[in-house]
Amino acid sequence: MSDKSSKNWQEQTRLVHGGVLRSQYGETSEAIYMNSGFCYENAEVAESRFNGEAPGFVYSRYSNPNLAMLESRLAELEGAEACNVMASGMAAVFAAIMCQVKAGDRVVAGRALFSSCNYILTQILPRFGVEVILVESADDAGWQAALSKPTACVFIETPSNPILEIIDIRRVAELTHKAGGRLIVDNVFATPLLQKPLELGADIVVYSTTKHMDGQGRCLGGAVLGDAKFINEVLLPFHRHTGPALSPFNAWVMNKALETFPLRAERHFDNGEKIAEFLNAQTAKVKRVLYPGLKNHPQHTLAMSQQKRGGALVTFELEGGKESAFHFMNALELVVISNNLGDARTLIAHPATTTHASLGAEGRTEAGITDGMLRISVGIEAAEDIISDLSRALAKT
Ligand SMILES: Cc1ncc(COP(=O)(O)O)c(C=O)c1O
Repeated sequence: MSDKSSKNWQEQTRLVHGGVLRSQYGETSEAIYMNSGFCYENAEVAESRFNGEAPGFVYSRYSNPNLAMLESRLAELEGAEACNVMASGMAAVFAAIMCQVKAGDRVVAGRALFSSCNYILTQILPRFGVEVILVESADDAGWQAALSKPTACVFIETPSNPILEIIDIRRVAELTHKAGGRLIVDNVFATPLLQKPLELGADIVVYSTTKHMDGQGRCLGGAVLGDAKFINEVLLPFHRHTGPALSPFNAWVMNKALETFPLRAERHFDNGEKIAEFLNAQTAKVKRVLYPGLKNHPQHTLAMSQQKRGGALVTFELEGGKESAFHFMNALELVVISNNLGDARTLIAHPATTTHASLGAEGRTEAGITDGMLRISVGIEAAEDIISDLSRALAKT
């Protein structure tokens, strides 16, 4: 097998050629290695693979050629030393945190979080004796106070799901390092094409590759990226023995999807900007639009200092609460009602009753999620068609 990777290529080239492991058959497109185990010519080879003296695969819960190809391609895209892929974004988030904390540790996190990340932090970690402190995104004094004591790790999502709040990655990285911890950034909303948290001082980046990386709503997947020491010595032992392994088939799908990722993403981001501008102009029915690329976003300047563009997620609030929000969703003909995001299709979700229902009314108020709020994951259709569907539904609402 040959490993094709080069640090000198441009991003788009690395996403087509990076990390290819070509077999003796010389296939152009990567083969699928749909096997759980591997065999060895003799007992000595098995021993040397297990004790790490010889390179090679031993078991697909540990690694597999398809997983290894996806990991190299993602690491090249992120500019990270190492990557470890997992069965879902949540498996990646959970492993990235759990592999490095123990009872008695402190963990600090942004309050604006995807609900499952919130669940891990507020419901699971405290059961194991880990103290968790949540801080408001823009509260610098709050970050300083929370990180004035030794802290094992910090977890942030920026822009956050669903209200698109921004956290200053450089600042939180500086405070995290002073507190002796590692900063983990969930970079799902920005994608590595818009924001590179490691360049801004973060230590670890996590993804749900289910979203824009697959981009066609087919497979679940997740990834953790960071320096080789953390990935190999801290994360891998946790991953290998707890088993959140990604299917080789899903890894193959994601690896192929990365070849067209920048092309698709450009359309997503162009459409995101157009939809945000359209909604922002509908002042009679739309109370406010939350989109980091709009000048009226309260953290627009900070957002543009760490991410290249606004992105493909647009959140907005309708006058009239849940009733108007449901009316609007039900009047749509093109835009699909779905809690997923990062699909080729434009999707709309009502976070209060779906993705963030588990927070409860009080939790949602704290997280700034209202009943009239809708989140659009803007797809790659013709922007004019998305806008006319939104416009027709608004007229009926
Ligand atoms: C910001 C964020 N992080 C993590 C996840 C979890 O990803 P997955 O559904 O692949 O487990 C999601 C899913 O919506 C998300 O929006």
